Amino acid sequence: MKAVIPAAGLGTRFLPATKAQPKEMLPVFNKPTIQYVVEEAVSSGIDDILIITGKGKRTIEDHFDRSFELELSLRNSGKIEALKEIEAISDMADIYYVRQKKQKGLGDAISTAKNHIDGEPFAVLLGDTIAQSNVPCTKQLMDIFYKYEATTIAVEKVPEEKIERYGIIKGSCISDSVYKIEDMVEKPSISQAPSNLAITGRYILVPEIFDHIKEVEPGVGGEIQLTDAMKSLDESYGYVFEGKIYDIGNTFEWLKSSIEIALTDDNVKYDLRQYLMELLK
Ligand code: UTP
Repeated sequence: MKAVIPAAGLGTRFLPATKAQPKEMLPVFNKPTIQYVVEEAVSSGIDDILIITGKGKRTIEDHFDRSFELELSLRNSGKIEALKEIEAISDMADIYYVRQKKQKGLGDAISTAKNHIDGEPFAVLLGDTIAQSNVPCTKQLMDIFYKYEATTIAVEKVPEEKIERYGIIKGSCISDSVYKIEDMVEKPSISQAPSNLAITGRYILVPEIFDHIKEVEPGVGGEIQLTDAMKSLDESYGYVFEGKIYDIGNTFEWLKSSIEIALTDDNVKYDLRQYLMELLK
């Protein structure tokens, strides 16, 4: 299976940090966000990744490319561990790029992947969303996809106050953590939300989605919503995956993700815990 990582958005919720750099390159603890996303695809068994970029996103390509000068300099100064880490980034997978010429929404971004996908089911991992789990989130979704052979999306139970920020599914629970989707609503008010199951940024889509995207009428700001295209698919499933998701396009989530991920790192977790306890005294 191939993966598509949309990373062409303008990141307006994170201005001014994203004025001259892609939000997908903002570091979370010690790595750019999109590196976590590529690593998730790779550890799910995917080695063909298409990143959807746009204007001002060149550093994403540079990050996954070889950097001969840096490698030579690290080698000459004997920094072999750092050298290995840098080389590993460019060896992770075959990464391809396509540009979305105008930021017309996630549905439009996905439609630029049509030729590369070539009629097969494919995974979508949002470039500004990190999933932390023992079994990679995309791998969990792939297992459900192969069982039901229909579009499968990761959903997360969110507290009431967060409902208005997400696409929310309406569905019936058919087995442990799997919901057959009957409808989806983009950013509903609490009173109109059909459930608290939010669409979180990981999908396994069938290639028919491209025809459905073509039929979608542009919504607010001329954006073509992926949720609208998925609504008209014959069959789709929501899976409450095991793990945690961070949408780093939101400054508070970005900060939380950095702290929580740093607290899992053996080199800094004790000092960070100590520091936080002192700070909050
Ligand atoms: P978001 O809606 O969170 O990204 O899209 P955005 O448009 O950059 O955010 P704000 O609202 O302006 O802050 C989720 C993912 O889809 C990509 C984004 O790069 C992000 O990784 N995306 C979004 C595209 O590739 N193209 C688009 O037109 C919109």
